Amino acid sequence: MKNICVIGVGYVGLVTAAAFADLGNRVIAVDISEEKIEGLRRGVMPIYEPGLAEMVQRNVRAGRLSFSTAYTEGLKDAEFVFICVGTPEGVDGEADLQYVRMAAETIAQLMDHPLIIINKSTVPVGTGDWVADIIRQNQIKPIDFAVVSCPEFLREGSAIHDFMSPDRTVLGSENRAAADAVAQLHLPLRAPIMVTDLRTAEMIKYASNAFLATKISFINEIANICESLGADVQEVARGMGFDKRIGSQFLNAGVGYGGSCFPKDVKALAYMAQVRGKHPQLLHAVMEINDFQRRVAVVKMRDLVGGDLQGCTIGLLGLAFKPGTDDMREAPSLTIAELLREAGATVRGYDPVAMDNVARTHPWIVLAENAYDLVTGCDGVIVVTEWNEFKQLDMERVRKLMTRPNLVDGRNIYDPVHMREMGFNYRAIGRGYNGEG
Ligand code: UGA
Repeated sequence: MKNICVIGVGYVGLVTAAAFADLGNRVIAVDISEEKIEGLRRGVMPIYEPGLAEMVQRNVRAGRLSFSTAYTEGLKDAEFVFICVGTPEGVDGEADLQYVRMAAETIAQLMDHPLIIINKSTVPVGTGDWVADIIRQNQIKPIDFAVVSCPEFLREGSAIHDFMSPDRTVLGSENRAAADAVAQLHLPLRAPIMVTDLRTAEMIKYASNAFLATKISFINEIANICESLGADVQEVARGMGFDKRIGSQFLNAGVGYGGSCFPKDVKALAYMAQVRGKHPQLLHAVMEINDFQRRVAVVKMRDLVGGDLQGCTIGLLGLAFKPGTDDMREAPSLTIAELLREAGATVRGYDPVAMDNVARTHPWIVLAENAYDLVTGCDGVIVVTEWNEFKQLDMERVRKLMTRPNLVDGRNIYDPVHMREMGFNYRAIGRGYNGEG
């Protein structure tokens, strides 16, 4: 049992706190937001993540997990402090480190015994050294500390699983003993642990996300080429995926990647390269293709309705940036909705969990109660997020409820032949000529 303090109860912090408590440690999670901490004490989760509420409640009841707005309480007996605060996108795509700075300054001012400070937030390469400088400069009196980078590789929607069964744990530090102590915390996870220097660990995170984003843009580019050659990208991806060097994951063509990580991290990596005089051409192409891909769905719908979206009612099936989350950050649905609106269409939307978030920020998207309500009276429907419940819809009913049976399957979840047999004007992404395959 170790005493751990987690700073920040956003997505990464809350999962980290709950999971380390579940592994038998005593964890105090600290956040400056009274509202979030009050909510957590009452069992209200600030985010939707399958299994998280149960895990939090179980560990609170067992006395291993508690929440506080006071750093002093969190730091009191802590041996390890995890910095898990947000690093939003700043100007020019550079990551905004104000919350990391605030956390580091506060830790430095309040620490009264040696600490191992672990950075889990995704931060520009070199931030670990910068955090160490901030701690040194803000300490009231010199006390031993070490900074370790331990990047997170959690996917939203399966974060608990990813935490408990990681492919690897990456630790970076100039202090080997500190890195080994953090490695001990991760031993119960039984995954390979790699110890390296701070900057390399920070770079591993960016390189991993950039590579995954590249895989997605690659298959989206192939999808667009497939359309002009009459090939089916689903089969192409399957055929490629059998090759172990390529792998079958992250080769689903669609309306592009979104979320709080890939868009921000690819941009931040490109920025880091550029300010050092490099030309990250591949990263720029990855971003450009992703941007283009969101437009593809709108162009397909425009063609289906006869060339002009003015006055049309278009329904978006799925709004979250991917299934299993209510996160709307950089969601392709928002770009698609904006483009449709600019073209004069009325935009309707339905999502199993993300609608509260959409209502707050995009009140002009007309929200429906369920998928059938959404499609009723639509001139066209675009599948934007591949929620399982959309795969099981009664498509005969869907077609009858629509004013015109125009369907753009932005995530390739339906069988093109079947959809056309049912009478849909159906377009997919990269499946035969112009997505007509
Ligand atoms: C991603 C990484 O997968 C995590 O390893 C990483 O820790 C996390 O970012 C982060 O940096 O915090 P996440 O953003 O939750 O996790 O989502 P992913 O499942 O990776 O999906 C990202 C986007 O790519 C989604 O919009 C998804 O729809 C899209 N995607 C994914 C595709 O378009 N095609 C695919 O084949 C796979």
